[in-house]
Amino acid sequence: MSFKIAIDGPAGAGKSTIAKRAAAELGFLYVDTGAMYRAIALGLLRMKADISSETALTDALSRIEVGLGYENGTQKVFLNGEDVSSLIRTEEVGNMASSAAAKPQVRAKLTQLQREIAGKNDVLMDGRDIGTVILPDAQLKIYLTASVETRARRRYKELCGKGEAPSLDEIAADIRERDYRDMHRETAPLRQAEDAVRIDSSELTIEEVTAKIISLMKAKRQECSA
Ligand code: CDP
Repeated sequence: MSFKIAIDGPAGAGKSTIAKRAAAELGFLYVDTGAMYRAIALGLLRMKADISSETALTDALSRIEVGLGYENGTQKVFLNGEDVSSLIRTEEVGNMASSAAAKPQVRAKLTQLQREIAGKNDVLMDGRDIGTVILPDAQLKIYLTASVETRARRRYKELCGKGEAPSLDEIAADIRERDYRDMHRETAPLRQAEDAVRIDSSELTIEEVTAKIISLMKAKRQECSA
């Protein structure tokens, strides 16, 4: 039986950095489901699809194929066969991903693919609905969060590091808006699964959170083999 770890939480809580490290240490396959939503969003943007129209969305989705692959242990995401792993990391794509992710057709398209991957491998999967919808039977569930202020400051530093001159207030407003959309949508809203361990990373370093997840995982493994 494959072992599954689900990590959910809001944007900017440090999920992907931490999940990547923990998966590498454990020898698990890391699956960044946000990248899959982002790939669909890029496809929709390229087609200039009107996602408020159900028929237009259905038509656009029928022309979008998302795939995952791994190169030297790094996840690559493909849109109709094209490697779009770098192209999806823009604010425009992130915002479209968050809007498109509220649509049931979009979620249905990715649910099956995500479950298939988890059925074949030991996975550490991160997203918004992994512990609640995609892998409700995951052996370990983490809900990783941090205050809006901390998340905005982290994002601010990251953008400054890229040579941009962002506004901290705008970043915080954007995070609040994204949280609201993710937590209040009807289909698979972001929420903590009842059996998830909550970790607030506001006062913790990446190393501390990663170590915590590894130790929770070791305890689970012992529990499962006892
Ligand atoms: O990097 P960031 O945390 O901003 O977002 P992401 O993990 O790359 O995901 C982009 C968007 O996809 C999020 O804002 C969510 O709305 C959506 N998403 C989702 O609905 N369900 C998932 N399992 C993963 C992402």
